[in-house]
Amino acid sequence: MDQYLEFSGISKSYPGVKALSEISFRAEGGKVLALLGENGAGKSTLLKIMSGDQRADEGAVSLNGETVILSSPAQAIKAGISVIYQERQLIPSMSVMENIFLGAPPVKHGLIDYKRLRADTQEIIDKFKLPIDPETPVMFLSIAYQQMVEIMKAYRRNSTVIAFDEPTAPLTDTEITILFDLIRQLKAEGKIVVYVSHRMKEIFEVTDEIVVLKDGQFVTRLVTSETNEQALISAMVGRDIGDTYANLSRNEKYGDTLLEVSGLTTSAITDVSFSLRRGEVLGFAGLVGSGRTEVMRAIFGADVVTAGEIKLDGETVSFSSPRDAIDKGIALCPEDRKEQGLVLYRSIEDNVCMPVLSKLKKGPFLDTKALEKTTRNAVDRYDIKTPTVDKIVAELSGGNQQKVILGRWTNDKMDTKILILDEPTKGIDVGTKAEIYQMVCDLAKQGLGVIFISSELTEVINVADRIFVMHDGRIMGNMTREEATEENVLALAMAE
Ligand SMILES: Nc1ncnc2c1ncn2[C@@H]1O[C@H](COP(=O)(O)OP(=O)(O)OP(=O)(O)O)[C@@H](O)[C@H]1O
Ligand SMILES: [Mg+2]
Repeated sequence: MDQYLEFSGISKSYPGVKALSEISFRAEGGKVLALLGENGAGKSTLLKIMSGDQRADEGAVSLNGETVILSSPAQAIKAGISVIYQERQLIPSMSVMENIFLGAPPVKHGLIDYKRLRADTQEIIDKFKLPIDPETPVMFLSIAYQQMVEIMKAYRRNSTVIAFDEPTAPLTDTEITILFDLIRQLKAEGKIVVYVSHRMKEIFEVTDEIVVLKDGQFVTRLVTSETNEQALISAMVGRDIGDTYANLSRNEKYGDTLLEVSGLTTSAITDVSFSLRRGEVLGFAGLVGSGRTEVMRAIFGADVVTAGEIKLDGETVSFSSPRDAIDKGIALCPEDRKEQGLVLYRSIEDNVCMPVLSKLKKGPFLDTKALEKTTRNAVDRYDIKTPTVDKIVAELSGGNQQKVILGRWTNDKMDTKILILDEPTKGIDVGTKAEIYQMVCDLAKQGLGVIFISSELTEVINVADRIFVMHDGRIMGNMTREEATEENVLALAMAE
């Protein structure tokens, strides 16, 4: 009676890339199956085929032995498959209950039966023990609870298969715990759960089996409890990358002070002071919302400073706009690639070269060869998976889009003195993460000051030379890499 979902010979091509090639495997009910692979491996494409958003060129998907037709999202839903993406698919102004029962509300005498709608929704909410009111418009819920609403919507449809594409990326640690509880309940009910994430810790915490993809091909299928991180990494990357942090070649000597921030205050942060030397990597740790991004925005001239001082090379500065800051050698690689970083419908080249166009001219015209060279360098450096530098960014996989932002702010024409990286490894695969850490160390060796913000504790305490911990808009303390442990950083981050 156990349910199963089977992929047989699924292939899918886009112009210039074979995103999936003859993928066959089975996912079973009552289990969570992880889909793992480097950026561009084809994970999201497989999910899009399951959700009916994209059609496979070849192959079939079957549920409990019966082929399902997936030529539209409506058909996928009807077949019992729900895919939960990072981009919410809810109607913001509508209430929780209207969203959960969208398209199929209980009706009485031809009208929506609100009493039953409320009661039926409450029943689902209670089942998952969530503190949500059925009548709240979803736009008033946190991202985490909006995601819960989507899961409840999938549950209400009685979906057999529920798939998640990097669901924890925007969540805080507590919210992740709630999500995992929910996933465990789905599993206990015998649902088939497919889970995509780059975070190893989560894979080991919540999944039962793992399918590894590489460059659109099936590599292996493993039982989570019988494998380990190193084995997974070598299956994904195709080689052993060893101990990432121990292998880093770091900068050993610092120069003079580059940036000195004292008493910096804005509407979001209070009395923030720290200094950064040439060649130093400063880490900023803290929970999501602790004010790290806001400190950087204030330095960068993007937010209004109400008190305090910023000194760059010993001189007091105040930037009226990010353009000012960029001209003085400060680069900020923002956290949210879609909202603040990328022009999605332009090419990789346009995106990478955007801040340095004035340096890429031949007379009055843009030097197309130089543009291409700068872009090529960035593409090679971060191993951006793309057939050409002209590819539209919207068509890249999520992790590769993130790499384009990194490529922009570290391109070979930038005159950067201070590089601020806000969550640079979000959505990036493990192999490339290691390369980003090394790049951070290399830039420090070249004399840049680097600020590295990350919510992944292990990475920030192992990459940075000194770690500042924020909580509620304030700096709670700082320590060297040698002094830092996950426990002492977390204690400061959660201080009341
Ligand atoms: N709409 C599209 N048009 C053209 N190419 C696409 C499109 N969507 C995906 N691709 C390509 O298909 C390949 C697989 O992408 P996919 O998004 O499935 O990767 P992924 O495994 O989800 O990676 P990531 O971990 O970075 O999210 C990539 O090379 C990508 O550039
Ligand atoms: Mg993806």
